[in-house]
Amino acid sequence: MENIKEELETIKSKCLNCQKCPLSCSRTNVVFSDGIPNSKLMLIGEAPGYWEDQKGIPFVGKAGQLLDKILNSVGLSRQKDIYICNTIKCRPPENRNPLPDEKQACSEYLKAQIDILQPKIILICGNIALNSMLPSEHGITKARGKWFDGPYNSKMMPIFHPSYLLRNPSHEKGSPKWLMWQDIQEIKKEYDKL
Ligand code: URA
Repeated sequence: MENIKEELETIKSKCLNCQKCPLSCSRTNVVFSDGIPNSKLMLIGEAPGYWEDQKGIPFVGKAGQLLDKILNSVGLSRQKDIYICNTIKCRPPENRNPLPDEKQACSEYLKAQIDILQPKIILICGNIALNSMLPSEHGITKARGKWFDGPYNSKMMPIFHPSYLLRNPSHEKGSPKWLMWQDIQEIKKEYDKL
């Protein structure tokens, strides 16, 4: 574990000084990760938003608060169970989708995070993360809730992004929130087997 922490710190220091793409000029903070360096469970989001950019911590805005609630609902938390990061580490202006060049420039950091942690379960949160982790024929609506083979013999599950759930508040059977509830229970079941 000490080794993992040290290796993550090394790549984090590099990332904090990164100037490989123009987002380095507009960012307030690089947003590298939060949670614990747990090699069992990792979540990959999209990109920092306003609050994440302000604080330098992923998923601390409204979507992040909902993510915490979802994790907590099955007894998981970022304090003790999960390593959280994003596909790209700097906020795109006005929260637009990251450009291909930005994703390409940033990919070495996400790759390093995966290579160092070698997580057993990877949660792919939303379409942007999905497109960088799985071939492009997969869309989140079809892929969510399914297990895919990931790096280092991991299992990966795409899940809805919490900001999508914020825009779709219904709890009815079959709604995005209801589907997320099914998915997080399945994830917890798998996590408990590890
Ligand atoms: N949305 C994301 O995908 N990541 C964050 O860190 C915040 C919002």
